[in-house]
Amino acid sequence: MRKKLNIGLFGFGCVGSGLYEVLERTPGFNARIGKICVKQEGKNRALAPERFTYNMWDILDDPDINVVVELIDDADSAYEIVTAALKRGKPVVSANKKMIAAHLPELLTLQKRHNVPLLYEAACCASIPVIRNLEEYYDNDLLNSIEGIINGSTNFILTRTAEQGIGYDEALRLAQERGFAESDPSLDVSGRDAANKLAILALHAFGTIIHPDEIFTVGIDRLGELEFRYAAEKGCKIRLIARASRNAEGGIICLVAPEFVRPGEWLYGVNDEFNGVITRNTFSDTQFFVGKGAGAFPTASAVLSDLSALTYDYRYEYKKAGAGRLGYVQQEIYLDVFCRHPRNAQGVAECFTEVKEQYAFAEAGFTTGSLSLSRLRELGELPGTSIVLFGINDAGKTISGVVKKELQEA
Ligand code: HSE
Repeated sequence: MRKKLNIGLFGFGCVGSGLYEVLERTPGFNARIGKICVKQEGKNRALAPERFTYNMWDILDDPDINVVVELIDDADSAYEIVTAALKRGKPVVSANKKMIAAHLPELLTLQKRHNVPLLYEAACCASIPVIRNLEEYYDNDLLNSIEGIINGSTNFILTRTAEQGIGYDEALRLAQERGFAESDPSLDVSGRDAANKLAILALHAFGTIIHPDEIFTVGIDRLGELEFRYAAEKGCKIRLIARASRNAEGGIICLVAPEFVRPGEWLYGVNDEFNGVITRNTFSDTQFFVGKGAGAFPTASAVLSDLSALTYDYRYEYKKAGAGRLGYVQQEIYLDVFCRHPRNAQGVAECFTEVKEQYAFAEAGFTTGSLSLSRLRELGELPGTSIVLFGINDAGKTISGVVKKELQEA
């Protein structure tokens, strides 16, 4: 028989209060929220004050609480809460991608040592059941890559600015107002939220443990008008894409960066706060998952699904993280890129292995071509540059010599 859950909830913000409502509206589900721990006393909340505590040990040391749900945004406090709960043998559901991605080895060890599950479907792509699919459906060696739009706020901003003419600040404000953005929205626009999620996905997809700080990450915060004009002229959209793919040597390459998406590509139709994830597989070929990737209810729905899974003692087995896991490779890959730069920037063309186009306008210039990842890092550090990828250049390694065209006046 399925267990009855008595939940100790940490956090009553956008997702926490969303979960409360989702549980209220799911009467057949055998769970109740016993206690709610919040940080700020005296704040006006939708529930009676006696439902709340300000002391985390009221939940962690309560023997009647048989599951902890952690939905706060402070990653350090979240780590303290989650590790204390696991050490007490309490199953945990968390949505804190930043905390989880930064502490994967410790969290795996604690789950094993205390024989207790930690589930976090809500940490990646909210309503899309991507982690459980990677764990269960792709539990053999068939997966070659996982890529997609895994941050709702940046997708919302890119949709609204480029396709609906709303200003960047206004689009970001709307993303915050609708509960899509992090409380520190620089995590979204810098691409770091996507890198955190990608680190978690790489573990479940390939068994690879990679710290998110090691992932080459470019956000949308440096994109300017020229890039959007270039995209529009080519009939493309710009989307923030995260990818983890197996390379020819059997290692994993991870990247987060804005990319041009062409009509007809799977991700072209993924707009607003929706996320889209593509898996490429040896036998089943290509699969595409789409759904809301941010917001109170889509995120709470993933928490509800984890709670339901706990009632039948589900846990991640991390089968791929064992002896046969794929390592993270730092070796060179080649990429086709667009780089906007100041009109007479020094050192840009030198970064490219092959230059395809170079144009200068009154206010800025741009260069497109192929280059290695380490040169891309250098390029990104040059003042006033902004980068959009066309994609990975599979032929890049064979490019020999440097082809440079004269700078053309546009
Ligand atoms: N800020 C995140 C996003 C929330 O926009 O995707 C969901 O993880």
